[in-house]
Amino acid sequence: MSDRTLYRAAYLHTPENPFLYPGALKTEQDGGILVGPGSAGHGTILDCGEFAAVRAAAPDAAILDLRGPDAQAGVLLPGFVDTHVHYPQVRVLGGLGMGLLEWLDRNTLPEEAKFSSAPYARTVAKEFLSGLAGHGTTTALVFGSHFAAAMDEFFGEARASRLRIVAGQVVSDRMLRPELHTTPELAYTEGKALIARWHGGPDTGVEDRLLYAVTPRFSLSASEGILDACAALLRETPGARFTSHINENLQEIETVRALFPQARDYLDTYERAGLLGRRSVLAHNVHVTDRELGGMAVHHCSAAHCPCSNSALGSGFFPLARHLAAGVHVSLGTDVGGGTGFGMLKEGLQAYFMQQLMPGGHPLSPAHLLYLSTLAGAEALDLQKTCGDFSVGKAFDAVYLRPGAGTPLETVIRHAEGPERVLAAVFTLGGAADVRQVWVGGDSVYARPNTQGEF
Ligand code: GUN
Ligand code: ZN
Repeated sequence: MSDRTLYRAAYLHTPENPFLYPGALKTEQDGGILVGPGSAGHGTILDCGEFAAVRAAAPDAAILDLRGPDAQAGVLLPGFVDTHVHYPQVRVLGGLGMGLLEWLDRNTLPEEAKFSSAPYARTVAKEFLSGLAGHGTTTALVFGSHFAAAMDEFFGEARASRLRIVAGQVVSDRMLRPELHTTPELAYTEGKALIARWHGGPDTGVEDRLLYAVTPRFSLSASEGILDACAALLRETPGARFTSHINENLQEIETVRALFPQARDYLDTYERAGLLGRRSVLAHNVHVTDRELGGMAVHHCSAAHCPCSNSALGSGFFPLARHLAAGVHVSLGTDVGGGTGFGMLKEGLQAYFMQQLMPGGHPLSPAHLLYLSTLAGAEALDLQKTCGDFSVGKAFDAVYLRPGAGTPLETVIRHAEGPERVLAAVFTLGGAADVRQVWVGGDSVYARPNTQGEF
């Protein structure tokens, strides 16, 4: 039997950045993606194109026709990449009516304190990872828990899920609540131990779908001492990523300014500690100065835009055009639970809405939305050689959306006049109910059986 599988479906992907290349959206109406052993492991994309041509070159491959026996309407997309999402916040989703600091105090930090219980942490880790996979997210940069034992539970479940997860223990030493505070020394030693157990960077011999992200919560809750401990972890860990929050809320920014009188601005609190580089992802960045955008561009770090969260918490409009003009890379995040759920399609749609509404907003095409939800995230995480689109040599990370017969999305796809129209409908009407199957590196990580019981 062949160890290669040929997936047959209509597919869409953005192997290039549509902010730079107008023709970046690539599609096949009757597409074939050949998957088998290769440079990205046993589920590497070996060929990709029109089904008949790929089939002719691989006559022995097993065929998996995703359209089902009745050739139903559906689309295959690269798996979504969520670059900002909090594991211990699944159960605070839906808490509307507050700004950031009140929401943290009243909703979120009391819930995060419960993660001192390892069994509780394990239960929520499972809920969280199912939430990602069930929405078609195959890679995520995950804000962790303040408790090291909760992170052991999380990484254990993440390994079992087979998703690509970049995550780390969250550290803070002031202004939250005492049970969530640590010290620079403990942050360093616990971080070292977690990295040794779970970080799959170069030459570690550890599972490479898991990577460690050094994660101070935000400068408001982090002394210079703890930022220095984070910088030591980052320096000493090849392949580690860095993530934190920045410039989300005006009250937060004022407080950070008062806490760091010697810093030029919010970015500088991280910059002077040596935390910024190509693998640094800063969430929100709504109220950013031009000096900070220049600094981010120099350090090649990325901004994770979280439009649903920015709307729900009333944080403000993300200045996408200014980021792009300054050469700062932008990806998308759901920010569960400040955001409104795990859906990256919804996040893309909300980004579109906000750019439509804000003065000086950047118009977004369906290709932009697909790129922001997939390859842009892989690029932010420096995982673009591994995932983000269907280029030959990457891992087969994919989500198949097959809406129910007669649903508005199915009807629009069936009658759509071109791929841009299909994609616009997917972002407007699609959601978890339409996710039929999800793969990471060729491994099926989620499948929703239909009533006929076929695939
Ligand atoms: N800033 C510090 N912590 C948080 C958090 O949990 N969510 C959001 N949205 N912003 C933060
Ligand atoms: Zn956040």
